Amino acid sequence: MFVQLLCTVLVIINLCDDVSAAGRPRHIVFIVADDLGWNDIGFHNPDIITPNIDKLAREGLLLNHHYVQPLCSPSRAAFMSGYYPFKTGLQHSVILENQPVCLPLNITILPQKLKELGYATHIVGKWHNGFCSWNCTPTYRGFDSFFGYYGAMEDYYTHVIRGFLDYRNNTTPVWTDNGTYSTLRFTDVATDIIERHNQSQPLFLYLAYQAVYGPIEVPAKYEAMYPNIKSENRRKFSGMVSALDEAVGNVTKTLRQRGLMDDTLILFTADNGGGVDESGNNYPLRGSKFTVYEGGTRAVGFMYGSGLQKTGTVFDGMIHAVDWLPTLTAAAGGTPVSDRDGINLWPSLSTASPSPRTEVVYNYDSHPQPVQGHAAIRVGDYKLIDGYPGPFPDWYKPEQVTSSLNTRFSRDSANQYQLFNLKDDPNERNDLSNFRPDMVKKLAARLAWYKKQAVPPNFPETPDDLSNPALYGNVWSPGWC
Ligand SMILES: *[C@@H]1O[C@H](CO)[C@@H](O)[C@H](O)[C@H]1NC(C)=O
Ligand SMILES: *[C@@H]1O[C@H](CO)[C@@H](O)[C@H](O)[C@H]1NC(C)=O
Ligand SMILES: *[C@@H]1O[C@H](CO)[C@@H](O)[C@H](O)[C@H]1NC(C)=O
Ligand SMILES: *[C@@H]1O[C@H](CO)[C@@H](O)[C@H](O)[C@H]1NC(C)=O
Ligand SMILES: *[C@@H]1O[C@H](CO)[C@@H](O)[C@H](O)[C@H]1NC(C)=O
Repeated sequence: MFVQLLCTVLVIINLCDDVSAAGRPRHIVFIVADDLGWNDIGFHNPDIITPNIDKLAREGLLLNHHYVQPLCSPSRAAFMSGYYPFKTGLQHSVILENQPVCLPLNITILPQKLKELGYATHIVGKWHNGFCSWNCTPTYRGFDSFFGYYGAMEDYYTHVIRGFLDYRNNTTPVWTDNGTYSTLRFTDVATDIIERHNQSQPLFLYLAYQAVYGPIEVPAKYEAMYPNIKSENRRKFSGMVSALDEAVGNVTKTLRQRGLMDDTLILFTADNGGGVDESGNNYPLRGSKFTVYEGGTRAVGFMYGSGLQKTGTVFDGMIHAVDWLPTLTAAAGGTPVSDRDGINLWPSLSTASPSPRTEVVYNYDSHPQPVQGHAAIRVGDYKLIDGYPGPFPDWYKPEQVTSSLNTRFSRDSANQYQLFNLKDDPNERNDLSNFRPDMVKKLAARLAWYKKQAVPPNFPETPDDLSNPALYGNVWSPGWC
């Protein structure tokens, strides 16, 4: 009673929102959906069946301008490090299995920050921040436990990619799970962690599902939920989303059953937009995964639970993936992190008040392939794209099969710059670059300031033969960088 009263007083002066009634930091569950598009979730698209996720989003804080990178590794590196990928060398593409690359080891990453605050830290699912050395892998970078895979993608049942296993419990390869759909297994592992957790310690669970990235695979019962969808791939894809929804339902049910829910802050986000060549969809947003258009970068996201003082509402402020390290560290009661690109948005999110973030860099990639730039920035309502925005430049409807279209976007057919007013034109239909040279100049100057801070992309073109899994018992393994 006294503690609650004290907190009520202290909340007013914003001091107590980091300590729960239990006298220790709140639990944090950070759920990432892979390649989930803007239009692939029930709360944006009534054709998709996601009742559990919709309910959390509706009763939580909907993140309406939450930006991520156009691809997996860069977004995950941003979540973990709080740095833009153009500061860590990960801006060009994703980390390939045979590249000796990982998120730089001199950066203290999110689980390490939370460990310093006393958290138990667990990762289930996809890592994709590099694994060429053991020091790059999750259990050497602040996670107490790991169950999942190191790379980009793999078969959902065999857990094999390019002929070799990528699937581990901590550091040990798991050969005994052939045939188990990863969404089910990862949920089992996550609920097991919650059930075993001693609540006197704060819990950090980073639950990065394989769903809903390709390959398009789903148990028949989920596909059967969509008899009206004619495209087989879109039907299966929709089933994958519903399996993910059931998974989130099971995780939250376990949190409730174990009495953790009241004290848990949940963050749910996609890592990038839907891949329209893999049946993902971002309509009415423009573009796809791979592009710096909003369809590739404006992610489905919400927060739910402990510490949010205003719920059932929409947070319209700008957020970028880099903000989660400082923000979650603050939500955990840590001292403010100010040495990163990310901004601590916890004071704004917890009170649903305006975001201090006024600009976002979508990417800056100086790599020669693909051509020229691939850079974009938003300042206030305006967005400038400089050079090639990526493939799939159109507005795709859910059942459109885009892999059969010629979607490559020729640099020659466009101006160097495209300028949009996202407040009036969130779907990027009216390029204003010819009408607002003043604004082009202003944003280009701001982008140039960021470009000066970039490190070169770390993207070795030649595969490293020492990565060959045949050298390590037919498992993609560390030990070659
Ligand atoms: C990490 O090392 C790189 C290369 O030496 C350096 O440029 C960078 O500033 C370092 N980053 C941190 C956070 O120490
Ligand atoms: C992972 O390994 C640990 C330690 O051997 C074991 O207790 C746990 O049950 C394993 N987890 C799974 C999901 O197999
Ligand atoms: C998984 O099982 C299938 C069918 O029995 C088999 O063909 C495949 O080789 C197995 N893969 C692994 C990695 O065990
Ligand atoms: C949980 O941890 C606390 C503090 O270490 C300990 O006192 C308590 O016995 C533990 N509870 C269980 C059920 O293990
Ligand atoms: C959710 O839990 C139910 C009941 O235990 C189980 O049948 C189902 O397979 C689980 N679903 C997922 C996606 O984990």
